[in-house]
Formats: sequence, structure tokens, C-alpha cells
Amino acid sequence: MSRILITSGPTRQYLDPVRYLTNASSGRMGRALAEAALQHGHEVIVVSGPVALTYPPRARVIPVVTTDEMLQACQAEFSSCDGMIGVAAPCDYRPAQVEPQKMHKAGVPRPLTLLETPDIVATLALTKGTRWVVGFALDTEDHRFRALAKLEQKRCDLMVMNEPTAIDAECTSAVVIDPEGQVLESASGTKEVVADAIFVVIKQYLIGPRGQ
Ligand code: C5P
Repeated sequence: MSRILITSGPTRQYLDPVRYLTNASSGRMGRALAEAALQHGHEVIVVSGPVALTYPPRARVIPVVTTDEMLQACQAEFSSCDGMIGVAAPCDYRPAQVEPQKMHKAGVPRPLTLLETPDIVATLALTKGTRWVVGFALDTEDHRFRALAKLEQKRCDLMVMNEPTAIDAECTSAVVIDPEGQVLESASGTKEVVADAIFVVIKQYLIGPRGQ
């Protein structure tokens, strides 16, 4: 049995006490992957941003809000895990300044300076040692090229390519590639079906030889 860390859902970066930057990630793919890993007999820790769904009761869930919080929670758990799947859609930017009070209209444009947040998958993979890391790539163009570039930059062992239409959807399609750019799996259907197909590849290529 392996212990698997899964990041899931969006993160939020607050502009003021009531407004924030985020995206439409539902956490469905994270939940489906958690379920697949549990079904295959593994232990699962989910670090999740704010979502409306509930994760499988057998998963340990750590709720977070911001990208920094997600990174800190993952760093605390990763050392005791055998691998991680980064399926969350963390905010890549945060406002340079967070207003302590609600912003009020002043009749003039209000420029917003955004700073980059840390990349969770890339940061964890820097210290992965013998642990495995699977990333997700969602791009609007040059899918294969960008996915392979991300796999290298983020030091992932496998990269799952999916489409922008996957966000907040019931169904999806995904292609799993290895560091040579070879397609190991291509699946479409409900997120549960696709997650299981992805997990079978993870088991075959990453868990099997080392973990069991
Ligand atoms: O670069 P991009 O955001 O498209 O990369 C997607 C992959 O990186 C996903 O696995 C996602 O969970 C992860 N990621 C991350 N931390 C971020 C942004 C993306 O772990 N701040």
C-alpha cells in the first residue's frame, strides 16, 4: 500500500476581506482520483482548496484557502508519502497588496499588481528523492509541447494533459505522457472513468515497481 498526496480544487487569493481571485475548478477530478487510489487499496491525503463537493470518507482531507497554504500543507505531508498527484488548479497570482477594508468605488480605474505564487508541484518535486510526482497540464494551445515542457520544468514523472473544457465538467478526456513524450494512455468519459484509467497507469509505471 502506498500513501498518496493529492492536491485538488482551486485556491483563492483575497483582494480585500470579501473579494478574491480564483478559478472554476470543482475538485471533481481530485475526488475521482482519490476514489480510484482508495479503490486500488492505497491511503490518500487530499489537500483541497474551497470546493462544494465532499471527498471520500476514507481519505484524510486537509482544507486550505490560498496557494501558500496549499504548499505549506503539502510540504508537511509529502515526506510521509510515496507520491503525489497535483490535480489542483492553484491561483498562479496573488495581489501585491491585500486591502484590510472592503474596497470602495472612487470613480477612477484601480490598477492591480499581481505577484506570482509558488508552484506547488515544482516545489515539492525539487525534494522528491525516490517519491513520484504526477502533474496535470491544461492548455489552450500546443498541448503536447507544453505538457512535455511542464513535465520537465516541474520534474514530474508523468504528466496528464486535459482540455479547458474539463474545468467544472462531469466528463473529461485525458492523455498521459511520460518524460520521453510517449503517450501511455488516452481516456475519455466521466471523471471517475478517466481517473481510474490514469490511476492504472500510475500504478503500472510508478507504484508497481517500487511501492508494492
Ligand atoms: O503551469 P500549470 O499551472 O499549467 O501546471 C499545471 C500543473 O501544475 C498541475 O499539476 C497543477 O496542479 C500544478 N500547479 C501547482 N502550483 C501552482 C500552479 C500549478 O502545483 N501554483
